[in-house]
Amino acid sequence: MRLTILLTAALTPLAVLAAPVALGARGDKFCAKIFPAPGDAEVKNRHDKFVDAFLVKKDVALAFENIAPEYVNHNPFAQNGAAWALNFLKDIWGSQQITIRRTLYRNNTSWINYDGSWGTIIDRYRWEGGCIVEHWDSGETWPTS
Ligand SMILES: *[C@@H]1O[C@H](CO)[C@@H](O)[C@H](O)[C@H]1NC(C)=O
Ligand SMILES: *[C@@H]1O[C@H](CO)[C@@H](O)[C@H](O)[C@H]1NC(C)=O
Repeated sequence: MRLTILLTAALTPLAVLAAPVALGARGDKFCAKIFPAPGDAEVKNRHDKFVDAFLVKKDVALAFENIAPEYVNHNPFAQNGAAWALNFLKDIWGSQQITIRRTLYRNNTSWINYDGSWGTIIDRYRWEGGCIVEHWDSGETWPTS
């Protein structure tokens, strides 16, 4: 009995990793990391698609196809995981008035700077295996070098 529980616990992460895309309760698609990781040009291309979906189309589900399910969110009021963030944003994001100031992708890190109803925001993302895996938005500054 105890062995079964241990094995189940040990195998669960493998099952998650093996899934080509993670399907949420509503059939949402998140990003499956690729090993070896795609090159810098492809990750930049994904960053461009993320920016277009998130800030131009304001289509959160489409944007989140670039976010890994295990995404770590450093916003103190947010929980980790793409599903939590998608659920939080899905009904409020589409009606946001967004003005893009600038965006940047460099070396698995991307920044977006925009004006929205929460003021002027700078989000920073870390990419791994071609997916966004980590996000910061508290006191972020634009890179100067
Ligand atoms: C790219 O990022 C890695 C890890 O964050 C860092 O070690 C490396 O110095 C960076 N390379 C450049 C060219 O900035
Ligand atoms: C980006 O991260 C991947 C791992 O996801 C790594 O293989 C690659 O070398 C990194 N790219 C740069 C430019 O450092």
